[in-house]
Amino acid sequence: MPYPAKRTYFNNYSFDIYEEVYEPAEDTYLLAENLGIREGEWVLDVGTGCGVLAIVAARQAGHVVGVEINPHAVRCARQNAMLNHVYGKVDFLQADLLSALNPSALFDLVLFNAPYLPSDEDEELAWIERSWAGGPSGREVLDRFIAQVPLHLKVGGRVLLMQSTLAGVEETIRKFADYNLKAHVKAQRKLPFFETLTLIEAKR
Ligand SMILES: C[S@@+](CC[C@H](N)C(=O)[O-])C[C@H]1O[C@@H](n2cnc3c(N)ncnc32)[C@H](O)[C@@H]1O
Repeated sequence: MPYPAKRTYFNNYSFDIYEEVYEPAEDTYLLAENLGIREGEWVLDVGTGCGVLAIVAARQAGHVVGVEINPHAVRCARQNAMLNHVYGKVDFLQADLLSALNPSALFDLVLFNAPYLPSDEDEELAWIERSWAGGPSGREVLDRFIAQVPLHLKVGGRVLLMQSTLAGVEETIRKFADYNLKAHVKAQRKLPFFETLTLIEAKR
């Protein structure tokens, strides 16, 4: 088992953060503060990292699935589910976005704190760099997610997508509309250097 590089805390939860795994940051916490989960809902957490959002969601949710491309993060998230006593309510899968889900898997709520920073196309990425690298436009992962998520949303279901103004908020809202999802800005937090974290909610 890899060694936890450090332990971090949110409310009354504890999270071990392994090497090569994204450490929860302002984007994570802005999303966590706006989950608004109703009792018994089925929740999908895409790019779960150390599992923080999936584990916080598990308190109200009926069941939570976390998907993650980084194998170190999947192991870390499983360990954190045990640490926070929600192991029976959360499943973690290693997968590229929603590609490994059964086509019949439908969710009330889909979360994604997405990678969105512009990065070189041919660059060989380390696992940790996948936490923020969004291809040359910054939208490579965002746009693939927007195309896949409508297939796994229940009628009346919603998406909470965290990105930055650096990756084009209006473009995200337009792209959701292309898939018949109505999107709006739900919360924002300004960061230094001309960037504003933006939480977008999209509904079916
Ligand atoms: C900004 S981090 C968020 C981690 C965690 N959800 C949080 O809020 O702290 C983005 C996460 O998405 C994962 N990721 C990037 N591309 C992905 C993909 N194609 N499929 C699944 N996960 C991906 C990264 O490995 C990383 O863990």
